[in-house]
Amino acid sequence: MTTEIDPVKLMKQQVGKAAADRVQSGSIVGLGTGSTTAYAIQFLGDRLKSGSLTDIKGIPTSFQASVLAKQYGIPLTTLDDVDAIDIAIDGADEVDPQKNLIKGGGAAHTREKIVDGLATEFIVVVDSSKLVDRLGSTFPLPIEVLPIAITPVSKAIAQLGGKPELRMGVKKDGPVITDQGNMILDATFEQISNPAELEKTLNNIPGILDNGLFVGLANVVLIGEIKDGEPIVREME
Ligand code: 5RP
Repeated sequence: MTTEIDPVKLMKQQVGKAAADRVQSGSIVGLGTGSTTAYAIQFLGDRLKSGSLTDIKGIPTSFQASVLAKQYGIPLTTLDDVDAIDIAIDGADEVDPQKNLIKGGGAAHTREKIVDGLATEFIVVVDSSKLVDRLGSTFPLPIEVLPIAITPVSKAIAQLGGKPELRMGVKKDGPVITDQGNMILDATFEQISNPAELEKTLNNIPGILDNGLFVGLANVVLIGEIKDGEPIVREME
């Protein structure tokens, strides 16, 4: 019996490793959320164990990231205790040619934007399926909303031309509840022609904590691909 290795998993592993390899000893590291970043966290732990990396501290962007960091032996700190974040590694749901992103597939985009946005270098790790010409073409936009404001915020999003849908739990009845105790509306927009403007317009609606548009934040996008049957990692130009 031959065991096929899932190519998407392979791309995620390679790109996670490539990002972890860029971290230098002594750094404060923003730890993103999601299945691709999980590999980066695992490889950071491997480097600490092997001694090729020393004296780093992680700032987790979610409960998931903090559990993984503890599992792989990465010491954690908080935004109260550091002056700066040297590097952040995080995944994305869509990446456009200007390195703008949609994030929030894991409902963690509010904390991710705080941590990734404070980093001197923000590295995005994706497999090639995440590349799009225009944001919103494959993935609805996640929006974190205070529970009491779900109805008025849904109406306001509809007025902007979006179709909001309350994200429901898997193996949990009822809506997804974020690490902050809020809910997520996934809003489909016909097209997002001006991400910077939509990001601000949405965040101006009372009751919205933050939306998953990350405009002008990413410094480096590493893309995992399969070429001639082999996984490779390339950097977006
Ligand atoms: C979580 C995120 C994730 O980074 C994004 O959903 C990508 O996840 P994955 O690497 O599992 O595809 O934004 O809120």
